[in-house]
Amino acid sequence: MKTHVSRFSLALTILAVIVTAFVTTTLRPGSGAIAQGSDWQAIAQQRGLTEEDLRAAAMTYTPSGMLDEFILFASGGQSGQVLVIGVPSMRLLRTIAVFTPEPWQGYGYGAMEEVLAGGNIGDQQALWGDSHHPALSETGGLYDGQWLFINDKANGRIAVIDLRDFETKQIVKNPLFLNDHGGAFVTPNTEYVIEGGQYALPLGGAYAPLSEYESAYRGLVTFWAFDRQAGRIDPARSFALELPPYWQDLCDAGKLVSEGWIFCNSFNTELATGGIEKGNPPFEAGASRGTTDFLHIINLKAAEQVFQSGQTVEINGMQVIPLDVAVQNNLLYFTPEPRSPHGVDVAPQGDFIVISGKLDPHVSVYSWARIQAAIAAGPTDTDAYGVPILALEDVLEAQVEVGLGPLHTQFDNQGYAYTSLFLDTAVARWSMGAEGYRPQDGWTLQGTIPVQYNIGHLVVAGGDTIAPDGRYLVALNKWSVDRFANLGPLLPQNFQLIDISQPGSQMQLLYDMPITAAEPHYSQIIRADRLNAWEVYPEVGWNPVTQSVDPDAVAPGTEGIIREGNHVTVRMTAVRSHFNPEHVEIQAGDHVTWTITSLERARDATHGFAIPYYGINLSLEPGETVTFEFEATQPGVFSYYCTEFCSALHLEMMGYMLVQPQ
Ligand code: CUA
Repeated sequence: MKTHVSRFSLALTILAVIVTAFVTTTLRPGSGAIAQGSDWQAIAQQRGLTEEDLRAAAMTYTPSGMLDEFILFASGGQSGQVLVIGVPSMRLLRTIAVFTPEPWQGYGYGAMEEVLAGGNIGDQQALWGDSHHPALSETGGLYDGQWLFINDKANGRIAVIDLRDFETKQIVKNPLFLNDHGGAFVTPNTEYVIEGGQYALPLGGAYAPLSEYESAYRGLVTFWAFDRQAGRIDPARSFALELPPYWQDLCDAGKLVSEGWIFCNSFNTELATGGIEKGNPPFEAGASRGTTDFLHIINLKAAEQVFQSGQTVEINGMQVIPLDVAVQNNLLYFTPEPRSPHGVDVAPQGDFIVISGKLDPHVSVYSWARIQAAIAAGPTDTDAYGVPILALEDVLEAQVEVGLGPLHTQFDNQGYAYTSLFLDTAVARWSMGAEGYRPQDGWTLQGTIPVQYNIGHLVVAGGDTIAPDGRYLVALNKWSVDRFANLGPLLPQNFQLIDISQPGSQMQLLYDMPITAAEPHYSQIIRADRLNAWEVYPEVGWNPVTQSVDPDAVAPGTEGIIREGNHVTVRMTAVRSHFNPEHVEIQAGDHVTWTITSLERARDATHGFAIPYYGINLSLEPGETVTFEFEATQPGVFSYYCTEFCSALHLEMMGYMLVQPQ
């Protein structure tokens, strides 16, 4: 009994000491007191972390094994790829090879060559891209986690990525245009992938001197039909709409009440043609002379009917609705927008369209109801190309002064909108003053948060769907200047995670993530539980291009080498830790078709396969089949091997290709 009592009082004493230590050493920012007691407090003190810093750490730190709640898909800019990042950890989880060959994924080094070739420009290979705007597929205006589309601004292309295996399945080249910028954006059920143009050109790649700019140059928006069943864009069901030679910029699809309509903005409605070296005003001045440009309002449903009724002209195999046909059929309207606009963003309920003019400190909010009324009333004015113009005062709902250099707007689940401010290098939060958003606050600026530095796009979780998730915003900053260690004159971009879960002016910067691959432009954030990717390919022999079992897949026991004249077929399997066959004996001058099937079924049991000199490097995920071809031009002995450390006997996973001289 005595022993028991003393143990009990000892426990009490220990508890008292712990409680005292906790109370006396709880961090007081700025107190300068040296932390005692728990180690983490001492560390925080030593590193000069404030209470706010510790909150940020608690919100973002993701211990081993904990998974991210959201997944961010970022364009990979000039890398031509897509970056996949966990939120809130801001860990880079995956790079998806899209427009640029990528050896680790075996993309373009023997495998997936036909996907890359789809993006060829005539006979010209385009082995990089300037990827800009990723678009997740939508069902009913919500991300469905099935597909991802992205444009290549440099070469006017759109890629299709299947989110079952996060691999690129298709690249289509726009046959009408060199550049695109207003893509990729999808309609609320992904019937169409929108690709707006950028710099006006003679359509179809014809030649015309700049002196004929007004008559011969044209703008463009293309509607690529997406076939969900096939998992491909269907060029035969796709069409384009000829536009005046304004530089069309970003587009967004209407949703809910505005579904079936498309909104694109434009700049250089001044029709500037530059030529600073000839004493002309440079583009930057010439294209900014006017006080307004034109928001393009396109009736996609009506355009679809015009296309289906055959009122199109064919240019380079693409059906194009001529500008005069568009005007006659009432499927194109303009309304003024503040000059040099960049973003056009449709609010979650489809009832408002938000435009930012880079050279105007306001965001302008257009009312879909007012636009419809103005169209019904019949506009009286037209532009030089005969396109009807809706008067600004008839369609404008509100203007909110947000700061300098407003670019893009995203929406959250609390009725707030967020606009990036390039010149102020900040994010502005403002309230949507309409019913269904925050009518109690009106259309007013709530607060701004500085970002480091020069923000371009910004993204809110689910921020361009009909039901944003909110909570997190990522600022996609072009410059990082002093945020990271100095590693020379080329600096990373800086993605900054911001907590937007609190109301009013409260927003907290949580995390900086350097992006060292390129200048990413836009991103989208999806809830991780909306993704449903495979852990391994569904069956052994899977061909990731067709997403089905390959008829040429190699079953175990059927491996071998078949010769027909100088055409050699190698049929190989791979499983830890050997290839079968291990000797491939061929002759110089042979044409080789080589199929490898991975027999693995264990998650993450990936093998690589490299043949040095011949430029082959594959990634064989569990169950995958790949076929590649090459000409055995060089005699010699070539050791092929597995490039993934797949097992303890990984180094032994090799073989010899013996190419006998003729
Ligand atoms: Cu298979 Cu290393």
